[in-house]
Amino acid sequence: MLAAIGSAVGIGNIWRFSSVVGQNGGGAYLVPYLLAVLCFAVPLMVLEMSVGRHLRADVVSSFGRAGRSFRAFGWLISLILLLILSYYLVITGWTLAYLAFSLLGIDVAFSDFTSSLQPVAYFLISALATGVVVSSGVKRGIERLVSVLVPFAFLILLALALFCLSLPGAQTGMSFLFRPDYSMLLRPGLWSAAIGQAFFSLSVGMGILITYGAYLDDDADIPKSALIVTVSDLLAAILAGIAIFSLVFTFGLPPTAGAELAFITLPKAFELISYGPILGVAFFALLFSAALTSAVSMLEVNVAAVMGQTGMSRRKASFLLTMALIAIGLPSALSYSSIGLSFFGSRILDLLDGTVGTLGLPIAAFLVAMVFRWFMDEHLLYSQLGVLSSWMRPLPFLTKYAIPTVLMIITILSLMEH
Ligand code: TRP
Repeated sequence: MLAAIGSAVGIGNIWRFSSVVGQNGGGAYLVPYLLAVLCFAVPLMVLEMSVGRHLRADVVSSFGRAGRSFRAFGWLISLILLLILSYYLVITGWTLAYLAFSLLGIDVAFSDFTSSLQPVAYFLISALATGVVVSSGVKRGIERLVSVLVPFAFLILLALALFCLSLPGAQTGMSFLFRPDYSMLLRPGLWSAAIGQAFFSLSVGMGILITYGAYLDDDADIPKSALIVTVSDLLAAILAGIAIFSLVFTFGLPPTAGAELAFITLPKAFELISYGPILGVAFFALLFSAALTSAVSMLEVNVAAVMGQTGMSRRKASFLLTMALIAIGLPSALSYSSIGLSFFGSRILDLLDGTVGTLGLPIAAFLVAMVFRWFMDEHLLYSQLGVLSSWMRPLPFLTKYAIPTVLMIITILSLMEH
């Protein structure tokens, strides 16, 4: 469960949540976000964990159990994850670099950083670190890592949020974060942003929880585990939001930017404030820990799939996939370096995020819900969940009809925008 929390709590909670809130008019966004989490993300998470524990297999074999030809979907999802991971690790590298800079007490402007070759070096370190953890095994690698980093990340978050609440701009920040503006609710874009962010933030719909579910004890209570993961993820996002908006409003900085927020806006605030250097170290240590435990979960899905399908050892599968990851991620890393690699005018990293990162998730989640609810025995769910308690009663309907429909609409809408 800590590993699932580690997967969920990532860069997404710390800056993606804040920037989506910022772009969507603050507190109003929380209503559709909570609804999306409860009605779509949590039921799919329960389904994924149940599939994982029922079949105790990797994603490809799990899809294969619904029908041999569905194995291709398992591979497709693994590929999407590998592509997302390839640029997620570039950003993980940036967080590591800024952790190093703040430990050394040097100020490096983001534009100077990205006009050197340093981003490539930090990307390589992050990819190798992820590979080493996964290669050490589920117990010796992943569990050991998350049992240190997840509590550590929450401690830092709590301390940061409490400290930032004492700043003069905290009140304005809080009313921005929690102020409802119901007129925004009529904008359809708000709803699909909320659903996208809910799935991304909870790492749902990508087979991660199928893979982790396979390692779940027989007596673990799946709905309860899903709720704990969800509440932890929400808490992380809200604590990060409290810290970020208090800082931003104290110094009159723009609240909207995403990557810019973490690497340009907040470092400015850290320069101006007392205890700034310590805050900087804490913030980047938090970002790096959160990113690493998410990266590990994405690689584990691929390693488990390759091991399950080829009988390869964990070491060999981890080594080969890490090498592949480095090869695929290098163009993204180079796109934010002195080389500035781009394609039709946009940097490779942004291009991947705008295509695979945006479309891959609803497509993968759609396949998971469709295949496991329409082509597999209904018994699967009930064998894992027992008699459904009252709050779980809508789950069979939601996972079978509502979620695939909503995901299809979102996919089509975002295809039309492209
Ligand atoms: N949930 C993580 C975050 O908030 C990111 C993440 C981990 C993810 N695994 C994923 C996103 C799989 C999409 C798919 O940053």
